[in-house]
Order: sequence, then structure tokens, then C-alpha cells
Amino acid sequence: MHRTLLCIHGFPHDGSFWRGQEEALAGAATVMAPDLRGFGHDRAPLPTAMSMEAYATDLHDLLDAAGRERVVLCGLSMGGYVALSFIDQWPERVEGLILCNTRATADGPEGRTAREQTARDAEDKGAAVIARAMAPKLLSERTRMIHPEICSRMERMMAEQRPEAIAAAARGMAERPDRSELLPRIEVPTLIITGSDDALMPLETSEALHRAIPGSRMMVIQGAGHLSPVEAPALFNEAVELFLDELEDLHRPMR
Ligand code: MLT
Repeated sequence: MHRTLLCIHGFPHDGSFWRGQEEALAGAATVMAPDLRGFGHDRAPLPTAMSMEAYATDLHDLLDAAGRERVVLCGLSMGGYVALSFIDQWPERVEGLILCNTRATADGPEGRTAREQTARDAEDKGAAVIARAMAPKLLSERTRMIHPEICSRMERMMAEQRPEAIAAAARGMAERPDRSELLPRIEVPTLIITGSDDALMPLETSEALHRAIPGSRMMVIQGAGHLSPVEAPALFNEAVELFLDELEDLHRPMR
């Protein structure tokens, strides 16, 4: 069967974030880009806090329902936290891992307080306020100058999310554990992708992942910010396609 690439979006986005990957990578894999609980079109009941484990469990159920045994996980930022939770719980279901603009560490006390504030702002003031505050921080200065339409698209996507989903995700991220201990135990081929101008995840966080995950590779996209798949889709897709090709070679029987 065609290899499956399960793309996991960040905060507070939805599955349509990966539109550029679904189109470009359709020949290389079956691309699944679901809405995490409460985001996009998803209307499943929401708890006050959605843990990364709960999102991962939803994805596990989705793969079971779709009859997909093993997948390549590709998670961006919060999607990376979910991907790490998934591989921690079900390593046998993962045949490759792509971690984009993310980290393995937990929030500190200040970060947790800021998450609660974000959750309350979403509930009290609505998603548009969160979207306006976040949009400029997500993209590099270069992207904002050259591609203002990407900034508008991302702001629109965030403003359309349900405040309850934003609040639940913010509270879930606040309680996520430090997964640094997991990294040396990751045995599948791993690619780390980040942007040189990511204001939210400094380069060191990706370098730390790269150092800790045995045999991992790392690609830094010059001039991209926190949203490398939408800021530099051609480079991003090329790297993912190459990674998928190499997985194919690894699995091809020797003659
Ligand atoms: C994301 O893009 O998913 C968020 O920036 C992650 C975070 O706030 O830690």
C-alpha cells in the first residue's frame, strides 16, 4: 500500500494548514491532514484541557478506522508535541518521524501562566483577538514582506477556530510533560526541519532534538519562520519527498 504521511497541525490551526503538502506530496504518500479535536470542522466534545495524549489517542483511533497500520508522522510545533506523545505510546505504528519547528521540553511556570491567559483571552475576547496577536510572530520578517497573503491566510485560519478549542489546546500544552528522555529511544528515521528565523522556537531547540535523536537529520530553511511548510513549501516538500524516498529504499528487500 502507498505509504501514509500523517500531518499534525500546530496551534491554533487546522488540517487545511497542510494544503500545500497534500497537493505536492500526493504522489509520494497518502497524505492525511486531520483537524485536531475541536479545530477546523471537528465537532467532537471538548474537555477544558486537551492533553497531547488525548490528541494522539484521537489520531490513533483515526488510523485504526482508516486501516492504516504504520505511518510517517509529521508534526509542526504543537503537532510535534502530539507526534512525540504518539510515538511514546505506539512506537510500533511509526515508521518515520518528521519534527517541524518544535521541541521536546515542557513549559516553565511563566509559560504555563501565559497559556492560561491565552485560554482566557480566547474564551472572553474570541479567536480573532488571538489571531491578530499571533499572526506576526509566526512568520519571518521576510515572509511578511514578500508574501503578505500568507500572513492574511494564517490570520484568517486562526480567527475561524472555536474559542473553546483554542482554550483547551492552550491548557493541554501547559500540562504537557518534558519528553527529552524519549528522544534517545526513538529508533525510526527522523528528520528535523526548522526555519532560521523562527521567533517561537529558537534554533537551539531543534539542535537539541537533532543531538538527542540517534541518526536524525536536520534541515534549517533560511529565511523561514515558525511555519516552514507554508513559508517555504517547495524546499519543505522536497525535503519530505526525499525522506520518504529514502524510507522506501530502506524497506526495499536486498537482491
Ligand atoms: C504552535 O505553533 O503550535 C505553538 O506555537 C506551539 C506553542 O505555543 O508551544
